[in-house]
Amino acid sequence: MADTVWWKRGTVYQAYPRSFQDSDADGVGDLRGITRRLDYLAWLGVDAVWISPFYPSPMADYGYDVADYCGVDPLFGTLADFDALVAEAHFRRLKVILDFVPNHTSIAHPWFAESRASRTSPKRDWYIWRDPAPDGGPPNNWISNFGGPAWTRDEASGQYYYHAFLREQPDLNWRNPEVRAAMHDALRFWLDRGVDGFRVDVIWHLIKDEGFRDNPENPNFAAGQAEINRFAQVYSADRPEVFDIIAELRAVLAPYPERVLIGEIYLPVERLVAYYGANLTGVDLPFNFQLIQAPWNARSLADLIESYEAALPPGGWPNWVLGNHDQPRIAARVGPAQAAIAAMLLLTLRGTPTLYYGDEIGVAHVSIPPERVRDPWERNEPGHGRDPERTPMQWDDSCHAGFSDAEPWLPLSPDAATRNVECQRDDATSLLTLYRRLLRLRRDHTALSVGAYRGLPGMPDTVLAYDRHDDAATLRIVLNFGAEQQTITLPEERGPRWSLLLSTHPDRPETTIAGGFVLGGDEGLILIRDHP
Ligand code: NOJ
Ligand code: MG
Repeated sequence: MADTVWWKRGTVYQAYPRSFQDSDADGVGDLRGITRRLDYLAWLGVDAVWISPFYPSPMADYGYDVADYCGVDPLFGTLADFDALVAEAHFRRLKVILDFVPNHTSIAHPWFAESRASRTSPKRDWYIWRDPAPDGGPPNNWISNFGGPAWTRDEASGQYYYHAFLREQPDLNWRNPEVRAAMHDALRFWLDRGVDGFRVDVIWHLIKDEGFRDNPENPNFAAGQAEINRFAQVYSADRPEVFDIIAELRAVLAPYPERVLIGEIYLPVERLVAYYGANLTGVDLPFNFQLIQAPWNARSLADLIESYEAALPPGGWPNWVLGNHDQPRIAARVGPAQAAIAAMLLLTLRGTPTLYYGDEIGVAHVSIPPERVRDPWERNEPGHGRDPERTPMQWDDSCHAGFSDAEPWLPLSPDAATRNVECQRDDATSLLTLYRRLLRLRRDHTALSVGAYRGLPGMPDTVLAYDRHDDAATLRIVLNFGAEQQTITLPEERGPRWSLLLSTHPDRPETTIAGGFVLGGDEGLILIRDHP
């Protein structure tokens, strides 16, 4: 088990490059900034850093609109800065994962300019062009993920092009073999520079229904939901042909040892697990966002863990995510006391965890005044914007929290002077210390990183308990999702003795436990069985 591939054993840390560390006083984070903070990531104890897009881009969607797949936007630095980042990361035994955005390019990509030039352009078919509907309107009823129609009419040719996101993000036509070849070349460009894997943006969107049929109405659509939910995305995404595309991506990675392919996929669990592919020819890790979406209570979480474990195909490796740059912060969703429980859950479940920068110090929701809104989604559909979870990392109590010498592109959280890495790193009671200890425990105990999972029945309603075990050790995790203390009776009669490895309440007195104990409100703990 100890020789298990790194992306099963390890943990991934997402750095949103605009917001992690600025090195040139322009208020926007950059690659040199990330390099400067690699010592922090090594100290924290993560294994890989996933960097959201830094490619040349007009930044209509802050880098998810790529104008050149093989470059670095000057805002973020140069290719030489990137090479230095990879070298410095590898020197510290940290892997580097890139964000690959294959579903759409920027409207400013030269391919699109060529495609748009005329109906007979050799690259016309690289994008998705359709004639208007008989009434002159869009070709079908598909909606953009950021609201409004997903089709924009091009005056010059009279045709519409499809964009699942902004009109500045035209979708590529993955049915075209030339597109596939060009995108494979882009992957190889970065693989040859030493990257350790890719997180593939909206991978379940890559292929659309060949006939572009209308999506059916969603009977559960409710007021307040984003407009995209008016229709079920039956024909615009999650099409069967997508698995051939993914198998080809995998084949591009295959000659490079130990690279990881992660898919961003928002689908119900039974569809999600299909993305492991037939005989595991799909992505290595289809991102599992269930902890982000589930009600935060012990029973719902126990059910979803069991059903996820049961749904995994043979050999399919699980993974868990608590937050990312598109979702409200975990500390905002569950509150500060439960943020510690969330950390312990994320880092003790079976499967590769992905941490989102700032969650380790408990950054919560940051209100963005209207004049500082940046996310185009917020402008299209107020209330849905993602700026509140993209604010600058809080390093210390200096000017702009050590993030930049200039005013940051998004406001800092107002608590930055007291909630930051500097003041939490030597505080035994801080969330950062808890994260660091948890990451340390994962390295010390293979039972935690790659061991089996076994749910523990008979717990009080607010408590979730499970064992992680392998040949070397059995660890028991007991988490209280409620604020009231609970009496825990361990199920084994005349049971074994357990030693306390870690509690979210650092002042817990006992160090050994047999039979039962009192679990504090909002307390989580990890025990190790004295004889495995
Ligand atoms: C998913 C990304 O995570 C999100 O930030 C982006 O806006 C869309 N894909 C479009 O690329
Ligand atoms: Mg900068």
